[in-house]
Amino acid sequence: MTDRILIVDFGSQVTQLIARRVRESGVYSEIHPFNKVTAESLAAYAPKAIILSGGPASVTEAGSPRIPQSVLDLGVPLLGICYGQQALCEQLGGKVEPGDHREFGRAYLEIAEDCALFHGVWAKGGREQVWMSHGDRVVALPPGFRVVGTSDGAPCAAIANDEKKIYGVQFHPEVVHTPHGAQLLRNFTHAVAGCGGDWTMQAFKAQAIAAIRQQVGAGRVICGLSGGVDSSVVAALLHEAIGDQLTCVYVDHGLMRLGESEQVVSVFRDQFKIHLVHKDASDLFLGKLAGKTDPEEKRKIIGATFIDVFEEEARKIGGADFLAQGTLYPDVIESVSVIGGPSVTIKSHHNVGGLPARMKMKLVEPLRELFKDEVRALGRELGLPDDMVGRHPFPGPGLAIRIPGQEITRDKLDILRKADAIYLEEIRNAGLYDAIWQAFTVLLPVRTVGVMGDSRSYDYACAIRAVTSTDGMTADFYPFPHDFLGRVASRIINEVKGINRVTYDITSKPPGTIEWE
Ligand code: XMP
Repeated sequence: MTDRILIVDFGSQVTQLIARRVRESGVYSEIHPFNKVTAESLAAYAPKAIILSGGPASVTEAGSPRIPQSVLDLGVPLLGICYGQQALCEQLGGKVEPGDHREFGRAYLEIAEDCALFHGVWAKGGREQVWMSHGDRVVALPPGFRVVGTSDGAPCAAIANDEKKIYGVQFHPEVVHTPHGAQLLRNFTHAVAGCGGDWTMQAFKAQAIAAIRQQVGAGRVICGLSGGVDSSVVAALLHEAIGDQLTCVYVDHGLMRLGESEQVVSVFRDQFKIHLVHKDASDLFLGKLAGKTDPEEKRKIIGATFIDVFEEEARKIGGADFLAQGTLYPDVIESVSVIGGPSVTIKSHHNVGGLPARMKMKLVEPLRELFKDEVRALGRELGLPDDMVGRHPFPGPGLAIRIPGQEITRDKLDILRKADAIYLEEIRNAGLYDAIWQAFTVLLPVRTVGVMGDSRSYDYACAIRAVTSTDGMTADFYPFPHDFLGRVASRIINEVKGINRVTYDITSKPPGTIEWE
């Protein structure tokens, strides 16, 4: 079994980053909520070391979260971060006080002593940049600990018990604003805990294939392909694991971008030789959408029609025992709410919601343990083309929600597709594609007057949108240089019949959303 690190979550906004940093160093890690960790779950997971996350509570308040005693009894190396450090001190015999000097954002750590955590990174006497976010602070150490780092707001900003291999830091090594943080975490997982760093995508792929074979046996699996990164990687992985036991169904709702359907068919059917059903259902979808302008109504029609078509195609191929889905780790992690009591919400994400139960199928979710960037690495490992693996997210309802407040017609879809293709081509040519989370064109429900040549034009206006984001929950508009904007606008207006005006959407999320509908 590969070495594993357990991250006990106390509800910090950045707990996921700890898992990512640990995995980036080649060590498998999982996040478990503090109130779900038991002696049994620890024995089953068998971590080589445990990291205690930060969190919004205060250990000085009654009823605030505590480290499960089973974690302290396990005897493996421990690293407490922010709240995790304070909880360690409080529970091991030290003292935490509400600080009158709160530290938020950039701070400096004075390295008071050398220690295993700093080895090869920071040396005694140094002054290093870190990122802090705390009000409380440790003021007295538990027995056996020494101070190895101090900051203006925290006299015990880094502490160590070398004999027991227990460490605590008040700052956040998992965020990029602590420039050497990843190396400190690596020191903890590799040097202190002795993890080997052998968790690679190649190793994951082999494990995932074995697990799929074991779960599926001789059963038949159906996979809804959308052309997006997640479903594409699921399909390629399953194909490698179970070959012809897999059938992929690509429901083409006629709302895809230029050339997208052709690429899905060519990659999966022609290149990978996957059994692929390509159902052109554009007449059905566009017929049902005729005359509809309300965003929610459009979404509901598309969702329900998608399920009907998928189900019918599945029936035609004789059904299946399993439905494969591209559920990712962020969808699976249970979020901890420590402020409102120990209520736990589980986010669950179903691309084709309701289908497994209706069709009496079990789920295969081989990406459940992966973050998005790991899915991309797995896709490359499986030989998927780079432009498919690096593709921006694309919503299930497709271009329907990019023709807002108006009826969707084939003519409008054609206009939008052409404008969108030009915009994306210019983004790629400028080398900006990978710096952007999502970029697309929106066909506005307004015609404007223009002058082209010597004549008057009266055509649609479109908006171009590009955002940066890490998870789609919040987003900033992408600040294009003016010459880039001018080039895109003039190409769209010159090359796309039907558009005579281009606007630039500079709304962030919140208060806007990424899509217009
Ligand atoms: P919003 O517009 O809510 O979008 O800021 C956040 C992210 O979700 C995508 N999105 C969808 N994805 N089905 C999907 O699979 C949908 O119905 C859907 N609606 C929005 C959107 O493109 C963005 O990445």
